[in-house]
Amino acid sequence: MDLTPKRAADSATEMVQVVLPNDANPLGFILGGTVMHLIDIAGAIACHRHSRTLLVTAAVDDLQFLHSIKVGDLIILKSRVTCVFTTSLEVQVDVFSEETLTGKRQLTSRAFLTFVAIDRDGAKVSVPPLVVESDEERRVCAEAQARRDMRLRRRDMAKG
Ligand SMILES: CC(C)(COP(=O)(O)OP(=O)(O)OC[C@H]1O[C@@H](n2cnc3c(N)ncnc32)[C@H](O)[C@@H]1OP(=O)(O)O)[C@@H](O)C(=O)NCCC(=O)NCCS
Repeated sequence: MDLTPKRAADSATEMVQVVLPNDANPLGFILGGTVMHLIDIAGAIACHRHSRTLLVTAAVDDLQFLHSIKVGDLIILKSRVTCVFTTSLEVQVDVFSEETLTGKRQLTSRAFLTFVAIDRDGAKVSVPPLVVESDEERRVCAEAQARRDMRLRRRDMAKG
């Protein structure tokens, strides 16, 4: 397995699609569940590009829907690996709406997801480290570490 460290920019991903009537509720706004599905996909793509392994989603943090996205708008999802641990990694997914006629763009959601790398037998495997060089990269990774600590505490509580 190739565990050469990689930069976040090497796996950063942007997904764009138009919101079609089939994606929408009766008010003409994209369904929350559809947005969650796309967030999972966008996060997974960045993590696959970083790890080049199979992955499972271990956790999705709180999700807010700040603005609705209507049929005919574009939905844009930008995903970026924030921090890599041993077999797990965190990815940030920012979701934007864009009006096709005006280009007006709004942040509609920000999500943090954790993926765990596995092999074909389901055994956990190590993930290539993330290159963390700049002050900004160090800050992003430190914040991810703090979220991970909270997440693992919540997981332990959920296990009872
Ligand atoms: C996620 C899963 C692989 C973790 O397995 P586990 O045996 O409990 O794993 P461990 O406690 O050894 O944790 C493995 C890694 O995942 C991390 N992890 C596990 N659960 C986590 C959670 N809820 N939040 C954050 N990190 C988590 C651990 O911190 C550890 O990270 P590290 O190796 O980088 O230090 C397992 O719970 C699972 O398969 N869950 C179902 C996943 C699924 O079906 N997802 C939806 C479809 S893809």
